[in-house]
Amino acid sequence: MEAAFQRPYRHPIGQTAGVHDPAEDPRSMPRHVECQDCHDPHAANGASALAPQAPGPLAEVSGIDSEGRPIASATFTYEVCYKCHGDTAAGTVVVPRRIVQMNTRLELDPGNPSYHPVEAPGQNPDVPSLLPPLTTASVIYCTDCHDGDDSRRVGGSGPAGPHGSLNRPILVRNYSTDDFTQESPLAYALCYGCHSRESILDDRSFKKHKKHVEDESIPCSACHDPHGISAGQGTPSGNTHLINFDARLVSPDPRSGRLEFEDLGRLRGRCYLTCHGFAHDPKEY
Ligand code: HEC
Ligand code: HEC
Ligand code: HEC
Ligand code: HEC
Ligand code: HEC
Repeated sequence: MEAAFQRPYRHPIGQTAGVHDPAEDPRSMPRHVECQDCHDPHAANGASALAPQAPGPLAEVSGIDSEGRPIASATFTYEVCYKCHGDTAAGTVVVPRRIVQMNTRLELDPGNPSYHPVEAPGQNPDVPSLLPPLTTASVIYCTDCHDGDDSRRVGGSGPAGPHGSLNRPILVRNYSTDDFTQESPLAYALCYGCHSRESILDDRSFKKHKKHVEDESIPCSACHDPHGISAGQGTPSGNTHLINFDARLVSPDPRSGRLEFEDLGRLRGRCYLTCHGFAHDPKEY
């Protein structure tokens, strides 16, 4: 158990946040975390559960529901997380995106143009890369992505839970977000845990996945936001498919001055932007 809290990326139990320097990163969220914020020692048990239901270790812990209301006992795991990563989160941006949003409650709302299915099944009926038993009707946990690198969930010897990891930000598997990352099973292991690498690189949805990811060494994070895009910030044609560009990598298309994705219907879209010095004015698939 202790090893999990000594990992470089962790929940700062009983100490000042260990992940970022508070002097450089003032924020409003509680920066001091205790086991009791996520566990009730009298109620916690080993019962397992199906997403999004909270498992036994979270029994009778307080939370914030999907509408932002405080609740005495969380039914769903994400409600425990929303206590600190919801409306009060000021947070550090890991990947600076075109649309910035630190409130995960707004990012994962089922009314959004797109979102990973943490509260409810997702928007897209065409997700050919999903590995069984996942389907487009599946719901996943925050902790399917945010867990220890040595968690027993992935066959390790450590406890399950978002206690600490070698992978930033507390990710269960490696996820490279640097531009010019050479594609490999390890580089995007987090995504490939649920989405078939073969399917992605075989261009079964976006016809230019291989070109960007493999040939141009562009990371998934250049185009995809892992949480979702809130309806208050995104649009139903510009932010489907978790598209929310890494602001460091893209600039406007010099001809039209536009910087955007446009959904053109099933498995079709186009982009106006410049990336790696290459103008898309626009490029369509
Ligand atoms: C930020 C929230 C959070 C904090 C803080 C936290 N835990 Fe957890 N912990 C979880 C979650 C979520 C799970 C459930 C993981 C699962 O079953 O998927 C869990 C599971 C566990 C488990 C069961 C592990 C297993 O393999 O079934 C133990 C034991 C545990 N936590 C101990 C602790 C202790 C001790 C502390 C304080 C030093 C602590 N936790 C702090 C969120 C937290
Ligand atoms: C009591 C408040 C609290 C709760 C509840 C809580 N967290 Fe956190 N979380 C924090 C704090 C404080 C940090 C440290 C932030 C920092 O140092 O930048 C953190 C860090 C993180 C990070 C790393 C962020 C980064 O920038 O590196 C992730 C991921 C995370 N938490 C996920 C979760 C998940 C998933 C849950 C629900 C199971 C959860 N947290 C519940 C307070 C909380
Ligand atoms: C599909 C995987 C996945 C799920 C599910 C997920 N996250 Fe994340 N999360 C990530 C990745 C990857 C990042 C790194 C940032 C990026 O790529 O933009 C991240 C970043 C974060 C951060 C750091 C701040 C930020 O937004 O960059 C926090 C805090 C966090 N997640 C909390 C949560 C909470 C709380 C939930 C559930 C309510 C959750 N995440 C669900 C993958 C996931
Ligand atoms: C250059 C931008 C870009 C990059 C980089 C990119 N994608 Fe995509 N991806 C898209 C677009 C656009 C779609 C929407 C296709 C459609 O119209 O349905 C998509 C769709 C998807 C889908 C849903 C459909 C399916 O194939 O199951 C998944 C999953 C996905 N991408 C995962 C990834 C992963 C994993 C990576 C990194 C290994 C990645 N993407 C890199 C642009 C990108
Ligand atoms: C724990 C499993 C899991 C992980 C890990 C995961 N995904 Fe997904 N993802 C899903 C599921 C389930 C869906 C189907 C939701 C739907 O039908 O809209 C999905 C859908 C998507 C979509 C399509 C969304 C849409 O609305 O078109 C994209 C894009 C995507 N994932 C990208 C990624 C990327 C990039 C990563 C790595 C950061 C990743 N996923 C990691 C389970 C996962």
